[in-house]
This record gives sequence, structure tokens and C-alpha cells, in this order.
Amino acid sequence: MHIEVTVNGRLRSADVEARTLLAYLLRDEFNLTGTHVGCDTTSCGACTVIWDGLPVKSCTVLAGQVDGGAITTVEGLEQDAQLHPLQQGFWDNHGLQCGFCTPGMLMTTYALLQRRPHPTETEIRQAISGNLCRCTGYQNIVAAVQQAAARLSAQDAMEEVQA
Ligand code: FES
Ligand code: FES
Repeated sequence: MHIEVTVNGRLRSADVEARTLLAYLLRDEFNLTGTHVGCDTTSCGACTVIWDGLPVKSCTVLAGQVDGGAITTVEGLEQDAQLHPLQQGFWDNHGLQCGFCTPGMLMTTYALLQRRPHPTETEIRQAISGNLCRCTGYQNIVAAVQQAAARLSAQDAMEEVQA
């Protein structure tokens, strides 16, 4: 089937089989290999992307389902060669070691901050409960998200003052 989907703000098209998974559409057709595949069974969260505003595990979504929709992947977080505050937070707080889970962690917490700009530590931990990390023990990931939330909040306040 032929599909069209907006990926990181750019309209893309592809011919896919009915069984093609979104994770493989992104990685194999669009060469967006930042989306990782860890388990292929909806367990690890490494493949998480944003689909029409909501985080989804792209190993569990068919490519045909996103026809006409909008996807944001980890490659879409950086803007104008500036890391997103979440990416900077992971950098500053050593929120990763091997980095395999990191794209999924970033996209899950990106969605969290969209709907909860000031999450509690409990809310952050609940949000990432579907994302597995074998390296960090999660503490630094939580700290990274807390830093990003504070920076985004400060940016919003600054923009309001300048408006
Ligand atoms: S690869 Fe999709 S949840 Fe693990
Ligand atoms: S940083 Fe290695 S799995 Fe999370």
C-alpha cells in the first residue's frame, strides 16, 4: 500500500507491505535509525515515537496505520543545531551509558512534558515505567527530565516577558 506521513515536519511517502511495522518504516525506508528496536515485543520502549501527539511503541504500530498522520522521532527534537532541553538534560546529568534506551526515553518524556510541564518525580517515574534501561538505574534519567522541565519553564517565562 502507498502511504503518506509527515515525519519531523516533512511529508514523506512510501510503498509498504500491510505487515510493515512503523519502526521499520522509519529505520529502513526513511533511514531514521535513531528509533531503536530492542525487543520487537512491546516490552522495552526503545522504539517509542510520537504519533499525532501521543507516545507509541513503533514496533507495535503498523506503517499503514499512520497514513495521513504525523510522527516525531528523536531526530526531530534538535532545532537549529540546538539540543532540545531534554537532550541537554540527559547530557548534563549523565542520563545514559550505552544509549540504547535513550531515544525511547527522550520521546516518552517529551510527551510527558507536553501534557505535564511540571511533573513530580513520581509522575516522571510512572511515565517511563514502560521504558527499560539496563544501565543507569533511572536516577539520572529522572534528574535529566527534572532539569529539562525547569529549563522549558524558564524559557516560557522569558518569552512571556518579551511578548
Ligand atoms: S522494540 Fe518496541 S518496545 Fe521494544
Ligand atoms: S543507557 Fe543503556 S539501556 Fe539505557
